[in-house]
Amino acid sequence: MEILVIHGPNLNLLGIREREIYGEMTLDDINKKLIDRAAAHQVRLNITQLNCEGEIVQEIGNARNYADAILINPGAYAHTSIAIRDAIKAISIPTIEVHLSNIYKREGFRHRSLVAGVCVGQITGFGVDSYLLGLEAAINLLKERL
Ligand code: DQA
Repeated sequence: MEILVIHGPNLNLLGIREREIYGEMTLDDINKKLIDRAAAHQVRLNITQLNCEGEIVQEIGNARNYADAILINPGAYAHTSIAIRDAIKAISIPTIEVHLSNIYKREGFRHRSLVAGVCVGQITGFGVDSYLLGLEAAINLLKERL
């Protein structure tokens, strides 16, 4: 079982960036937790961080060749990207959207996610636990399908 994890734009700056919102953890800290949790379930992860919309679209398209599920924090592209939405729709691999912060408690422009409608579900507002809950959800989903 292999899951693609995509961290979108500016998530490479975690630990420095708006710490009152995103906390002190770096992306490496989050990735270590994801890797440990995945190993406990004998699941392989392919983790990537991409700042460019087109690269994210490309990565999602490539996933059709190997990934069983996708965990994505699209960052700000969640609110703007029809291209990422279309890419997820195109490949029919179960995809879970996660956000560290609760996007519905923040500025109005963050209240809408264009990708949510093509994802299995969305987890938002639990910090690193959004990722871990998303990973568990993806694994449960795949086990149910076996
Ligand atoms: C975010 C929320 C987005 O609105 C924001 O643009 C981000 C991070 C989150 O994880 O809380 O870059 O996706």
